[in-house]
Amino acid sequence: MSESTMGKQVFLNEKLIPIEKAMVSVTDRGFMFGDGVYEVMPFYAHRGFRLEAHVERLLRSLAAVRIPSPYSQEQWLSHIIAFSQQHEESEQSIYVQVTRGPAAIRNHAFPAVMHPTVYMMSEPLTPPDNKGQHGVAAITATDFRWLRCDIKSISLLANVLLRQYALDCGVSEALLIRDGYLTEGAASNIFIVKNGMLYTPPINHLVLAGVTYEIVLELARTHHIPIGVRAICQEELFTADEVWLTSSTKEIVAITELDQKPIGQGKPGPVFTRMYELYQTFKQTVLYQGE
Ligand SMILES: Cc1ncc(COP(=O)(O)O)c(C=O)c1O
Repeated sequence: MSESTMGKQVFLNEKLIPIEKAMVSVTDRGFMFGDGVYEVMPFYAHRGFRLEAHVERLLRSLAAVRIPSPYSQEQWLSHIIAFSQQHEESEQSIYVQVTRGPAAIRNHAFPAVMHPTVYMMSEPLTPPDNKGQHGVAAITATDFRWLRCDIKSISLLANVLLRQYALDCGVSEALLIRDGYLTEGAASNIFIVKNGMLYTPPINHLVLAGVTYEIVLELARTHHIPIGVRAICQEELFTADEVWLTSSTKEIVAITELDQKPIGQGKPGPVFTRMYELYQTFKQTVLYQGE
């Protein structure tokens, strides 16, 4: 454990304890099977951004894997907000994980009685500074994940391997292709721009319903940027004028190089710049005035 994380308070089953003292049983099904779900929630200026949407998605993930939620939506919100207030950093990424809890016998089947394990930690949040107008490089990769990518599951081995593949190639993200069509990034949703029109794949069992994805669609509708939510084939990625990725911790990032070839002019495009500014303005408005 690094010196910087020593003494950091984490939340484990309703107790606030230093991270080095936080212990989970080896019988926990999160450890045994990756049997659990998670959320990552951004806090800016000590305020949660779209917190309700993250808690709703957490409840959907729990219901999908049939882990009984230990808390109601209101209780989740108050635990998460209270936990964020334990940390002095104004910009935080709060990680919440719920597993199916300990089980006496190693058996794939659910234990008769479930005592979910709830864990929360806070990490510093530093969204990328897009004013530099650089953009990032990405690669395409085969989407070999399972068929329930709508669930934010802690079983992330495929995402781990895909992300490491991207890093080994010296790029920031892997854009995933399933049967010739774009699904999403290894840890992000993807948008493209062609002739001034914004396109993104629809949300279904192959794509996580990103909270940032939804905000970008809302902003596009409000500000009359034409959008098409439809399947995007692999070839369209390479001929796009712009490609972006979105996620709660990265916000919106322009992808300016794909598989070592430039996207459009090889720099963030005008629709990206507009959406980036709309997003920042929207964030400030929501944080300081409410929606
Ligand atoms: C696979 C995947 N898709 C999409 C996203 C973006 O979701 P959000 O905008 O809610 O952070 C993430 C976030 O980590 C992700 O892991």
